[in-house]
Amino acid sequence: MDRSVFITGAGMGLGLSFTKKFLSEGWTVFAGALEPSPALEALRQDHERGLVVTGLDVRSDDSVAAARDAVSGRTESLDMLINNAGINPGKDTPLEELDFRLVSEAIDVNALGPLRVAKAFLPLLESGGFKRIVEVSSEAGSITDCTRTAWFGYCMSKASLNMQGRILQNYLGPRGFTVLMVHPGWMRTNMAGPEATYDPDESAGMLYPRITCPADGIGARYFQYDGKPLNW
Ligand SMILES: NC(=O)c1ccc[n+]([C@@H]2O[C@H](COP(=O)([O-])OP(=O)(O)OC[C@H]3O[C@@H](n4cnc5c(N)ncnc54)[C@H](OP(=O)(O)O)[C@@H]3O)[C@@H](O)[C@H]2O)c1
Repeated sequence: MDRSVFITGAGMGLGLSFTKKFLSEGWTVFAGALEPSPALEALRQDHERGLVVTGLDVRSDDSVAAARDAVSGRTESLDMLINNAGINPGKDTPLEELDFRLVSEAIDVNALGPLRVAKAFLPLLESGGFKRIVEVSSEAGSITDCTRTAWFGYCMSKASLNMQGRILQNYLGPRGFTVLMVHPGWMRTNMAGPEATYDPDESAGMLYPRITCPADGIGARYFQYDGKPLNW
C-alpha cells in the first residue's frame, strides 16, 4: 500500500535518518527543512519520485502554511506527520544567568512548532488512511523522572509537547487518530554531539516499527526507542 509522511527538521540528524528509513520502506516522504542540506539534496536526487523537499520554519505560520500548500499541490492526503524539528539553546545555563529569549525560542520551536504544523496539516491527515501523529519528544519531557537542575527551555518545551500530544489524542482519537510521543535515545547529532550513544539511523530503525504499527486503541503513549514506556 502506498503511504505518505511529512517529516519536519529533515535536513540532518534524526529527521534525515527518518527520511532515509521511510524511503527505504517504500513510503512517499515530504521532507520539511529549515535549510536545504547537501545530504537531503543528494537523497532527493536519488529518489526523484518518492521524496519531495519543502522549506519549513516551524516558528512561522506563513512558512508552515506555505509548506502545507506545497504538499497539497502534490497529494490530497497524508498518512503520518512526524514532528521532529527541535532545538536546545543555552541548555546548561543556570537560573542566575538565564536568557529568556532562548527559553522562549525553545518553546516556540519545540512546543508551538508541532502544534502549528498539526493544525495546518490536519485536513491532509484527515484525508489519509492511517491518521498518525508522532511527536519527537525526549526523556527530558518527563516531569516524574526529572533530576536536571537546568535545561529550562528544553525540558519545559518537551513536557509541554507531551501535554499537547495528550490533548490532540483526546480531540482527534474519536476521529481515528493515534498520537505517539517518542524519545529517540541519546543520539550522535548536532544537538547532542559525538559522545552520545546512538547513531540517528539506529534510532530511526528502532522507532520505525513502533510508530508504523497498526493503532492499538490505547491512545496517547509516551515511550522510548526500544518501546519501553516512559513516565509522563
Ligand atoms: N540528539 C538527542 O540525543 C536527542 C534526544 C532526545 C530527543 N531528541 C529530539 O530529536 C529531535 C531531532 O533532534 P536531532 O538530535 O536530530 O537534532 P539536530 O541534528 O540538531 O536536528 C534538528 C533539526 O531541527 C531543525 N530545526 C531547528 N529549528 C527549526 C525550525 N525553526 N523550523 C524547522 N526546522 C528546524 C534543524 O534544521 P537545520 O538543519 O536547518 O538547522 C534540524 O534539521 C528533536 O526534536 C530533539 O529534541 C534528540
